[in-house]
Amino acid sequence: MDISIRNEQEKDYRKVEELTREAFWNLHVKGCDEHYLVYKMRSHPDFIANLDFVAILEGKIVGNIMYTKSCIVDESNNKMDTITFGPISVLPEYQKRGIGSALIQHSIKVARKYDFKAIIIHGHPHNYCKHCFKSSKDYKISDSEGKYPYSLLALELKKGIFQGHIWKYCPSDVFNINHDDVEEYDKQFTHKKKEYRYSQEEFSIASRTYID
Ligand SMILES: CC(C)(COP(=O)(O)OP(=O)(O)OC[C@H]1O[C@@H](n2cnc3c(N)ncnc32)[C@H](O)[C@@H]1OP(=O)(O)O)[C@@H](O)C(=O)NCCC(=O)NCCS
Repeated sequence: MDISIRNEQEKDYRKVEELTREAFWNLHVKGCDEHYLVYKMRSHPDFIANLDFVAILEGKIVGNIMYTKSCIVDESNNKMDTITFGPISVLPEYQKRGIGSALIQHSIKVARKYDFKAIIIHGHPHNYCKHCFKSSKDYKISDSEGKYPYSLLALELKKGIFQGHIWKYCPSDVFNINHDDVEEYDKQFTHKKKEYRYSQEEFSIASRTYID
């Protein structure tokens, strides 16, 4: 399969929002807000344009990954800059062909080139442990409340970077989304039915699960 990966361009914006909507629709909740997140992210100060990639197959955009700046803060309130990806999306009909993995691997390679130290994400371990992400608890990185979510994962880009401290993760505030804004924004897209899928139950369980 001949996929190419390049930075997202302005002409891709609508396609990327549509593909994000297709990938996430009814997956975690009824409907989704990730397409709005993608739209909002691009004009946010934490957005990292150099790490915004699309995957192209036979001239069609089939996948996207986006990163924002984040940080971790240690017990003495010292801050270390980190980066966070998400959303990552592949059009449903193109999933399970290696496109998501290619986007992750490519972006990690470029992130190393730009000298970023670490990637911290919220995501399903099944999708990311194969790319060497570990539970954030293994690096003593908690959420803002000092808890260790099952879904909080970290990847060292510089070996040993987390050692010797206890950290709290601070994601970008771009993830604080107003649901009325999502509803309004979604009106620009073709109607899709919001409905229950069992994946929503799985997401609900995973997002309320913490490591002891
Ligand atoms: C998560 C997501 C980005 C992964 O993208 P993807 O392109 O399907 O990822 P890959 O193809 O690289 O890997 C998926 C699986 O397909 C398998 N695979 C890859 N190439 C394959 C091939 N040619 N034939 C069969 N299986 C293949 C991989 O081994 C992997 O299997 P695993 O899940 O058992 O480990 C995509 O499924 C998606 O957009 N999902 C909806 C949105 C979402 O959940 N985003 C992440 C939020 S945490």
